[in-house]
Amino acid sequence: MIYNYLIYRIKSVNEHGVHSPFVYDLLISTIYNKKNFYSYIQIEKMRNTLSLSKHQIECIDLGAGSLVNNSTKKSIQTILHSASKSPKYAQLLFRLVNHFQPDTILELGTSLGISSAYMASANSKSKFISIEGCKEIAIVAGQNFKQLELKNVEQVIGNFDEVLPDVLKNINQLDFVFFDGNHRKEPTINYFRQCLEKASEKSVFVFDDIYWSAEMTEAWEEIKNHEKVTVSLDLFYLGIVFFRKEQLKQNFIIRY
Ligand SMILES: C[S@@+](CC[C@H](N)C(=O)[O-])C[C@H]1O[C@@H](n2cnc3c(N)ncnc32)[C@H](O)[C@@H]1O
Repeated sequence: MIYNYLIYRIKSVNEHGVHSPFVYDLLISTIYNKKNFYSYIQIEKMRNTLSLSKHQIECIDLGAGSLVNNSTKKSIQTILHSASKSPKYAQLLFRLVNHFQPDTILELGTSLGISSAYMASANSKSKFISIEGCKEIAIVAGQNFKQLELKNVEQVIGNFDEVLPDVLKNINQLDFVFFDGNHRKEPTINYFRQCLEKASEKSVFVFDDIYWSAEMTEAWEEIKNHEKVTVSLDLFYLGIVFFRKEQLKQNFIIRY
């Protein structure tokens, strides 16, 4: 990861280094937008409360696991610190959803619902579905959504391998997907391929932790080189792909 990060720091560029009007506009309007939105305050208040909770819950890890703590009983504060996206990246997800206004959003990996809350609140008219395999964590996430009065969140509890096909059956078009669970190569590629079936050329897919492991780095390489992907943005901790047909294929490494 350190080696990959050094390469990223050397190769990454800001808005002055990109020649695509689409990417330039996205950087200026959204990715580098420092404006504070009202939802940020509410969700960060909730994060603070969760960070104080020593309440222990049973965790079943169906994914690649955490590099920090793999025990089955974990406190809410431990789960929060090891799994939830930081404000910097969760707020970027908010801005991306706010910018693209997707009708249907899917998240793989709810955990305590921090990133879900950001995305669901960025477009309250969207249909927002989030899948989580660990029931007890999903219950806490559900309480958090209630507390934030998020009415557009639909939770699905189950292993992605088992429930994703059924979730996708009930969706006509997927406009935005955040892949944030089971950070292994084959499952990630498999979920990507399934979601691709429901993608349009306006869809946006975001992948978490693309350099988390050698397997994830390989998965990201394969995804960004997929024939249907025309533009990819590598922000090191997140990878974003687009399917815009009018665009020449280009992979950007963006300083973030
Ligand atoms: C990194 S956390 C998600 C964090 C969350 N998106 C956020 O930023 O607030 C990943 C979650 O995915 C769940 N997960 C991993 N593999 C899974 C699988 N195969 N099926 C269902 N859930 C899975 C884990 O239980 C964990 O809660």
